[in-house]
Parts: sequence; C-alpha cells; structure tokens
Amino acid sequence: MTERNIGPKWLSNAIFYEIYPQSFRDTNGDGIGDLNGVIEKLDYIKDLGCNALWLNPCFQSPFLDAGYDISDYYQVAPRYGTNEDMKRLFDEAHRRDMHVLLDLVPGHTSIEHKWFKESCKADPNPYTDRYIWTQGWFEVPEGYNALCGVSEREGCCVVNFFSHQPALNYGYYQPDKPWQQGMEDPGPTATLEAMKDVMRFWLSMGCDGFRVDMAGSLVKKDVEGKGTIALWRKVRAFLQAEFPDAAMVSEWGEPDKSLQGGFHMDFLLHFGPSHYNDLFRCEHPFFGGDGDASAFVAKYVDSYEKSERKGLICIPSGNHDMDRLARTMQGVRQKIAFAFLLSMPGAPFIYYGDEIGMRYVEGLHSVEGGYRRTGSRTPMQWDHSANAGFSAASPEKLYLPLDAAADRPTAQDQMGDEDSLRSEIRRLIALRQAHPALGNLAEIDFLPIAENAYPLAYVRSAPQEKLLVILNPSDRAVTLPWDRPLGPAVYALGGKIQKTENGLSVAPLSAGFYAID
Ligand code: NOJ
Ligand code: CA
Repeated sequence: MTERNIGPKWLSNAIFYEIYPQSFRDTNGDGIGDLNGVIEKLDYIKDLGCNALWLNPCFQSPFLDAGYDISDYYQVAPRYGTNEDMKRLFDEAHRRDMHVLLDLVPGHTSIEHKWFKESCKADPNPYTDRYIWTQGWFEVPEGYNALCGVSEREGCCVVNFFSHQPALNYGYYQPDKPWQQGMEDPGPTATLEAMKDVMRFWLSMGCDGFRVDMAGSLVKKDVEGKGTIALWRKVRAFLQAEFPDAAMVSEWGEPDKSLQGGFHMDFLLHFGPSHYNDLFRCEHPFFGGDGDASAFVAKYVDSYEKSERKGLICIPSGNHDMDRLARTMQGVRQKIAFAFLLSMPGAPFIYYGDEIGMRYVEGLHSVEGGYRRTGSRTPMQWDHSANAGFSAASPEKLYLPLDAAADRPTAQDQMGDEDSLRSEIRRLIALRQAHPALGNLAEIDFLPIAENAYPLAYVRSAPQEKLLVILNPSDRAVTLPWDRPLGPAVYALGGKIQKTENGLSVAPLSAGFYAID
C-alpha cells in the first residue's frame, strides 16, 4: 500500500468554492465573467466561509467545450484577462489566507493547439508522437472515438471527449498494434514532460495546485488503472521534489486508485461507481426525501477501507457538468443536504450559486458544448440590479441568459436573512471549522442503514471529540437504534431528535450533530 499522503497543511481544513469563470462576475461589461470579477468577489466567498477556490479552465481556447479544449496552456484567455491578472488573483487570495486550484486538462487539447497542428504534418517533427495516431486513415482505434480526415499524415487520431479534443499520447498499458506506444517510449515520455512544464509554470506563479480533468483516463487500454496510477506516481515524485505544497485533486471517482497515484483527494461524481447520484440526482434521491442511501454507504465504506480509512473523498454540491441541486430538492431539504456535505470527510466543494439555491434553468440551447449542462452554468445572481449584478452588458450580450424567474434567489437577499440557505451554510461551515471531529481528515463510521431507510447516521471522530450526525430528509418520523448516552447538540435543524426507550426518535425533516463519548 502507498504511504499516506495527506498533502499540504491548508488542505486539511480547506472548503472549496468552484467558479465557472464565464458566469461569475463580469467587470468590463462584455457579458462574460473575468478574473477581476473573481478578485472582486473574494470577500464574498471568504464571508461564506470558503477558504479555497477551484477555477474551471481559464486558458486560451476556442471554447467548444467551455475551455476544456485548450489551445495554449500558458496563456489566460483574453476574455478573462491576462496572466498578470491571474498572478494578482493568487496574491489577493493568499492575502486573505485563501488558496487557488487551477484546472489541469492533461488528457487532450483543442485541435487549434500548435502541438496538434504540428502533429498533423506528414514530415516528422518533435510533435509527431504527441497524440495517438493509428496507422492507416481507415483504421479506427478500438475502444475510442477518433478524429479523421484532418491531417497531412496517414491515420486517425484518438479523441478523449468531443471529436475536437485529440487525446495526448501517454502510451498504451500493453501496446498490441504497431502504432500503439508504450508508456516509456519517447513520445509518451515527452508528453508527460510537457505537462510537468505546464504545472511548473503556474505553480511558480503562485497557483496552489490543480483539479485534474479526467485524471484516470491518460494511459489507454488500462482497464485496472495500473498504468495511469504509475504515471501519476511519477508526477507525485516530481511535485514532491519541486513543489511539495501543491495540492492535487482528481476527477477520477475511484479513490482507491487515485490516492495510490499520489493524489491528495478524489471526487465522488455523477458518473462512475460511487452512487453519488442516489443521494442528490436521480428519480428518487435520498435527500429529496424518498430514496436510498444504503448503496452509497456500502460503496463509500468500501473505498474508504481500500484507501486505508483516508478521509480524502470529496463530495461536491454540484459542478458545471451536472444539474443544479435545486432541481431535485428545495427548502429545508437543501439545508439537510448541506448538513451532510459539510459534515463528511474530504474537502467539501460548493459550486457557485448552490449556496443560494440557484436553480437549473430549463430549456436553454447548448452554449460552448454545454448541452444539458448549460442550465447549470447561468450567471450568478448577486442582487436586484440590472442582470442581477452579474454584468453591465445589455441582456442579449450575456454569456447565458439569467434565470428569468421573478423569485430567483440572490446573494444579497440571502445575506440579509438568518433563515436563508446561505446563512445555514455559513453556520455549518463555521461549525465544521470549530470542531476537529468534523475536519476533512477526521474519521467516519456509519451506523447500519437498510435499503430505503431513514435516517442516515454516522459518527465522526478526532482524537479530541466524537460527534454523532443524524440526517432525516424524509417526511417520516423514524427511530435510530442507539443505546449509548447522548451529549448536547452542537447543531440542530428542523424537527426534534429525542432519546426514547428504543433509541432516538427522529422527527421528519430534521438534522442534528451530538457530542458522544
Ligand atoms: C470533465 C469536465 O468536467 C467537463 O466539463 C469536460 O467537458 C470533460 N471533462 C472533457 O474535458
Ligand atoms: Ca468580462
């Protein structure tokens, strides 16, 4: 087993806020968010209690996948500002004791990247093997999609996601075709070195680490992930030597693998085996009041045990790829969902606007390759001024239309209301920071939960204290077997939770955190 690597100290109490830069705050009236807008709102984020940011890609790009199609890893996209603005953002964040993760997209580039243009050429050059090309133009790579008909050279190019995102070549785990290269071959080795240079560049400027896009997909035909784990271990060795304080969080969804690869934390996601969707986004989500958490708990415990009980599994409120949380739950249920998100191990991630219950905007046409995701990417609703305070542009120039509902939530209203979702989240974050047992690295043990049963309950423990967390987002009064003493509540929401002869009686729509021995 790999040695426990818990990363830089700040990560152990980091609470992240994810910013989709297009839609956060536009300061120059062009209808699109920018880095100055992020700097302007740092105090808002800090006031919520978040002390770290993850920014979706802000680099030069044709934006056919919202910036996940990079054409220059070394340049901030002009629409967001300049590299100097990025440096200023790092400095301003650090001044507030906050940290910034950029989005590293190591798996593919845009077709407009100069590496790809060079790689398309018939004459051999340093980029000939930067991407994965098959031998003949008719040969489609088994198991992957391909981009064909664009090159001077022979062959089709493997793509990672959309057809305009050619896959960078990190090799095949076990090559079995003449055109497939091994992980140690010169092409794949040069690709990895190039990606290390990208990391070096931003880390030297002051970036605190990366959220890594599709981290589990780099080595091809690597079913068990062994090659990809080995590749990330090389990156870990490089970071350990040059940037030991850089934080690495993977979009992988299999913590037992990613943590072995040297990542500090991994996300549970709406795809993959985590059962994350059972809780928030399915026909009957658990936090919607009529669903099942037992499969989630079983899978979580499995990953937790396999990764040596490391509390390094991040559960996001949402992100730019999934429907807004508010689509499946409202009111007190949203608050109970956040009582869960903010009492679990791993660093919590709050997607911009989820703290005010921003809604999924239905019926939008796809923008920048968003497709269904577009409805979760609309402008932040700050206040009641023009364009909800997002931008001074005329409404038709906005990156995306605002939620048109007359009662759309705003940050301003919620900041002035003690009963708002934002105020509840603010209290929960303060509580998390005050209680070692709620910390990112403190342990968790679930109480048994049957299929479709409520409540969800677990014990969080640190050497100094233990807390019992009880969450009942259902309409039913339920009983939790519990024969030990129950200390005072450090947090209570909604209906009552009381000790009875049979255990704890838990009122409908309630949550509570209790000190225990
Ligand atoms: C995952 C990102 O979160 C998503 O937005 C993107 O489209 C794909 N990776 C491809 O980079
Ligand atoms: Ca702007």
